Amino acid sequence: MGLLSVEDLKTYYFTGAGQVKAVDGVSFTLDKGESLGIAGESGCGKSTLGLSLIRLVKGGGIVGGEIKLYDKSLLTLSDRELNELRWKRISLISQAAMGALNPVYSVGAQIVEAIRAHSEASKKSAWERARSLLREVDIDPMRATNYPHELSGGMRQRAMIAMALALEPDLVIADEPTTALDVVTQAQVINLLKTLRQRLKVSIMLISHDLSILGQACNRVIIMYAGKVAEVGDVNSLFRHPRHPYTKALLTSFPDIKGERKALTGLSGSPPDLLNPPAGCRLHPRCPAVMDICGKDEPRLVQISEDHQAACHLVGEGGR
Ligand SMILES: Nc1ncnc2c1ncn2[C@@H]1O[C@H](COP(=O)(O)OP(=O)(O)O)[C@@H](O)[C@H]1O
Ligand SMILES: [Mg+2]
Repeated sequence: MGLLSVEDLKTYYFTGAGQVKAVDGVSFTLDKGESLGIAGESGCGKSTLGLSLIRLVKGGGIVGGEIKLYDKSLLTLSDRELNELRWKRISLISQAAMGALNPVYSVGAQIVEAIRAHSEASKKSAWERARSLLREVDIDPMRATNYPHELSGGMRQRAMIAMALALEPDLVIADEPTTALDVVTQAQVINLLKTLRQRLKVSIMLISHDLSILGQACNRVIIMYAGKVAEVGDVNSLFRHPRHPYTKALLTSFPDIKGERKALTGLSGSPPDLLNPPAGCRLHPRCPAVMDICGKDEPRLVQISEDHQAACHLVGEGGR
């Protein structure tokens, strides 16, 4: 069943130098219980897309397109309705907030605070709920009274996930939830997200620059480049038969020991400044397969197979 539909979404930042086209014509749908990954190098608009879905873009705004949750537009909501939307329907664990619990309150108190700020729950029932949420993310409920510094990095991350689940949202957006973690802890957090999706039937949108993480946790993946969708598809098709040169580059480069990605294999430079993105295909100045047409015409997303599309002049209609 369709939970979320995004149609030609444009989210720009307004700066003294002009408009930064951070999300520029993105369309996709997300079904209930689905786990959708958003991949792409830093600066490609992934976080802006996540923030747009709960209407929390600061320094800019949604300038075009449509976002619908269960067929209801999110772009016409009143402040009161927006308040209902956040936490209760969609919760976002932002990149900035990841692991950044308030140091002066216990983790339990912070979950209780989130519950009580958005519901009528009594203090007692909110504490009960907080403990059961901690259990849900594999943290001993006895630790509810611990302060963030008393928990490991992985536990703090899981406590953040517990908080995001507090109001039983339909969709949890997790922006780079494992980036600061070591490989073992990363795997634990990813497994947790997988289990929660199955057990609680919550939809998950997982944002990461690391495609291998998304391959483990998601059933569909969107590859974003310079504010646009380069390729989208079910995880098997996209990983086995990538069609976009950008996807191929992402798939063949691996993070170094610190988890940071080195220059992408086969691609020079970095994503463009979205104040003045290149004409035509935005990848063309970096693309190893560039053709004359690429600097002139913007490629449309074309259907390759049932759930697989790519926007590249090399890919013809019908995926040829
Ligand atoms: N507040 C802001 N003002 C102006 N530009 C911004 C702002 N936040 C992000 N950007 C720009 O928007 C683009 C997309 O950023 P972001 O959504 O953070 O990408 P990602 O999450 O993929 O790294 C980048 O070019 C970034 O420089
Ligand atoms: Mg980001």
